[in-house]
Amino acid sequence: IVCTTKQQLKEQLALYKEGFPGSRVGLVPTMGFLHEGHASLMKRAKEECDFTVLSVFVNPLQFGPNEDFDRYPRDKQRDAALAENNGIDVLFMPDVSEMYPTKPLTRVLLSEVTERLCGASRPGHFDGVGTVVSKLFHLIQPDRAYFGMKDAQQVAVVERMVSDLDFSVEIIRCPTLRESDGLAMSSRNVFLNEEERRQAIILNSALEQAEQWAKEPGMTAPLFKERLSSYIGQAPLADIDYAELLHYPDLTDLPDDMELAASTQPLIIAIAVRFGDTRLIDNRIVEQK
Ligand code: PAJ
Repeated sequence: IVCTTKQQLKEQLALYKEGFPGSRVGLVPTMGFLHEGHASLMKRAKEECDFTVLSVFVNPLQFGPNEDFDRYPRDKQRDAALAENNGIDVLFMPDVSEMYPTKPLTRVLLSEVTERLCGASRPGHFDGVGTVVSKLFHLIQPDRAYFGMKDAQQVAVVERMVSDLDFSVEIIRCPTLRESDGLAMSSRNVFLNEEERRQAIILNSALEQAEQWAKEPGMTAPLFKERLSSYIGQAPLADIDYAELLHYPDLTDLPDDMELAASTQPLIIAIAVRFGDTRLIDNRIVEQK
């Protein structure tokens, strides 16, 4: 069932909840142009929930004025077919005027977790994410919502918002799906030309190496970040936005003199690299024993 209005969505949810009281509702929020990464979230939701909602909405609030909102890839028909193939019960596909009928004056603002990594490069981005995700949570009232660790900072932001504002939804962290050569799947990969696509594998190979460096005795954050940047720099077209190492999910710095292997908290190795006009992100979480 495809709903393009909030009213249709509410009616479908009410019908279902009346017919099957006590069943578990799962939500997979996306911006569409769906790929296997999105499909893995849908499959997980389908496995764990009785009723699944997929939202497809390119949210203007989370794009900066010079970002790619207008050229963000869209294909509603293909998305609808993929949703159906994956057994999604309701596809919510509103347009911008339905989601924001009047100019939104209210924002969900998060501090600290939004100030590093993509939050630093894309001011206001996570306030737009927090705002639209909280609207979706209010509209759908899911028991579980599925998010990919490809966007690990987004997971940290949403988890914190849920706990700070007492949303009653469980956030499920899902692993990153990759192409066979290791490149993380992303709707933006279609923008890469042949040479950029070839060089883009440097993100995953850098992270693979970096996971090993993190275990080296005496390795500290400054040395680690320097190595990471110079490794990525081997790809001539790579323009590094950031190559970072932080605590996860707090996204705070490590002390400069601390040995990485001695950290008691999980760490995130996070990178953002531009190839031409296309900005790619990837990360690894290093769990501590
Ligand atoms: P979008 O980029 O479409 O991603 C939707 C969901 O799919 C996110 O949770 C994202 O982390 C996950 N995802 C993307 N690529 C993935 C991959 N290769 N493997 C596993 N999961 C992957 O993230 C957004 O949309 C938006 O910010 C949104 C949360 C919908 C709010 O507008």
